[in-house]
Amino acid sequence: MASSSPRTLLLLVLAVAVVVSDAQSQLSETFYDATCPQAASIVQQKVNAFVDADRGLAAALMRLHFHDCFVRGCDGSVLLNSTDTMLTEKEALLNKGSLRGFEQIDEIKMELECACPDNFTQLVARFARVGLDARDMVILSGGHSIGQVHCGAFFERLYNFQGLNITDPSMDPEFAAILKVQCPQTKPFGFMALDATNGTFDSAYYLDLLTNKGLLESDVALLSDPLGVEYAIRAVQDPMAFLNEFGWAMIKMGAIPALEPYGWRRHCAFVEPKY
Ligand code: HEM
Repeated sequence: MASSSPRTLLLLVLAVAVVVSDAQSQLSETFYDATCPQAASIVQQKVNAFVDADRGLAAALMRLHFHDCFVRGCDGSVLLNSTDTMLTEKEALLNKGSLRGFEQIDEIKMELECACPDNFTQLVARFARVGLDARDMVILSGGHSIGQVHCGAFFERLYNFQGLNITDPSMDPEFAAILKVQCPQTKPFGFMALDATNGTFDSAYYLDLLTNKGLLESDVALLSDPLGVEYAIRAVQDPMAFLNEFGWAMIKMGAIPALEPYGWRRHCAFVEPKY
């Protein structure tokens, strides 16, 4: 049966291998369970079709997985395109023109992204784990109204969107040009203000999002869902309501129960001895 063939299993492993849980940089077989339960079957169907059309592809993909895992661990780094400043494994002398299967993996990933358009659902799942809902998440993200961000945190959007060596086309072009001056590719540790009115806690963050001037992928992802769009518009129209709701959401966040309570401490950095 196709679903249990070795080639299918191989590719499922390969697809799962490029999924890295952000918490501990550990691979996780259950990464998509909550956010894209159909992920495995999509990969399976696509791989079967590809291998049916080109029997040699199974071997190519198995080799690709081996090459990925033996350089810095199984992190999908073999799939990265080179940039002006970085030569990736794909272009290494022994791999160039020899490793193959990249286009097929890109196509499978694109199909996954279409089926489970992402970031928003994944963020919602992360907040749900601690008892916060999607609305809390949209409101609390307004915390990015103050503070700073390292340039490197949005370099991919600026210089290598989806590995294509382009700027994220959804970003306002004038804004992108300003960012490029303040955050040249050689300065990942430079800083940018998180929103246009950085010294003031207000709802300008949402106006930035609505005018395509969001910085982080997680910020931009908020507008991929109607709930985020509605809230952003409301926050801009009624900044006082946002301030009020942000306050309540912070209280809710502060009430997330501790998993292992350390209790009251005389000095915050030291746990009190138990007698
Ligand atoms: C939705 C999930 C979130 C993600 C993915 C996220 C991600 C980030 C990142 C990447 C930075 C920049 C760090 C750096 O470059 O040094 C940052 C900064 C910041 N975040 Fe978030 N964040 C999230 C939610 C929140 C929430 C809920 C709050 C507060 C309620 C918050 C408040 C801040 C603040 C104030 C800063 C600036 C810190 C500073 O200037 O020192 N973030 N966040």
